[in-house]
Amino acid sequence: MGKALKASLVAIACLLVAACAGSRDDGVIVIKFPHVVAPTTPKGRGAERLKQLVEQRLPGRVRMEVYPSGQLMNDDDSMEALAFGEVQMIAASLSKFDRLTKRFKVFDLPFMFPDIESVTRFQQSPEGRSLLGALADKGFLGLAFWHNGMKQFGAPRALRRPEDAAGLKFRIMESDVLQEQMRQIGGNAQKMDFGEVYQALQTGAIDAQENTWSNIYSQKFFEVQDYLMETNHGYIGYLLAVNPDFWNGLPAGIRAELEQIVDQVTREVNGESSAINAEARRKIIDSGASTLVELTPEELESWRAAMLPVWQQFEDQIGPDIVQAAQAAGSPETIASPDSSR
Ligand code: LMR
Repeated sequence: MGKALKASLVAIACLLVAACAGSRDDGVIVIKFPHVVAPTTPKGRGAERLKQLVEQRLPGRVRMEVYPSGQLMNDDDSMEALAFGEVQMIAASLSKFDRLTKRFKVFDLPFMFPDIESVTRFQQSPEGRSLLGALADKGFLGLAFWHNGMKQFGAPRALRRPEDAAGLKFRIMESDVLQEQMRQIGGNAQKMDFGEVYQALQTGAIDAQENTWSNIYSQKFFEVQDYLMETNHGYIGYLLAVNPDFWNGLPAGIRAELEQIVDQVTREVNGESSAINAEARRKIIDSGASTLVELTPEELESWRAAMLPVWQQFEDQIGPDIVQAAQAAGSPETIASPDSSR
């Protein structure tokens, strides 16, 4: 190869790496992190904490720019922007990776996880950990799982049993499992951006929705929903992801420091997510704007029974090993096992 050609190829490669490695002005690596929720939620706080620690530990070398509340873009756009190197970090909800991997569908299976601790156990199991890298060849390198919390239903009437949901229009995230879940309870599912939900509820374009207490509170869904049902029927959590080319192109020392920061913040986010959701729940009750419906064990069982056929439909696609590991993480025997603190 001629010297001139080689030099220009190297120059092009350098340009590409620079584009992938975050915009650098004055040698500072910029990490843009857009997300759609409020800064007060588990993810919102985690993103701010990352920024704070990056400022403290990598001053003048890395700058994080956090764009909360869908200010910069919605989740769909942020996933595309990450692939193109326009942003460097995202934390979209696991449900939104539905079209990229069938394996993440396990997180949407209704009543799969009895509580957040079960989700943690699954995410820390070998099968759960394997999911972090499941999308690396599609341009998303998972650094960590972040919790939000368990989902509750909001509706214009009290839903004590699945039959009460018949005919209601439910907003769901982009997920075929959730679509099927709503079909099983006789609801009409409508996939919709998070940023459009409040207005859709207010104008009656949709009747109902499912989300965590922290999202229901911070998005003010409770102000436009007469009843909130405490079902804990599903999970919302996130894949904290970076573009693999960006990440692997970082100077090794900087990457190692960022990895430590991510580990610390992940422990903080996952340690405080339940308290943040409990606080949001309390504030909603105190507001008196919406009636909290607590279900009896027998009523909850009727929801579980109605939604359970969804599992059979998706188990093969997800992979029985993944489904079994998730199930084991929630079973009492696993809780009692000496291994459960992993
Ligand atoms: C939703 O769309 O309801 C959630 O994914 C929002 C979020 O990021 O928690």
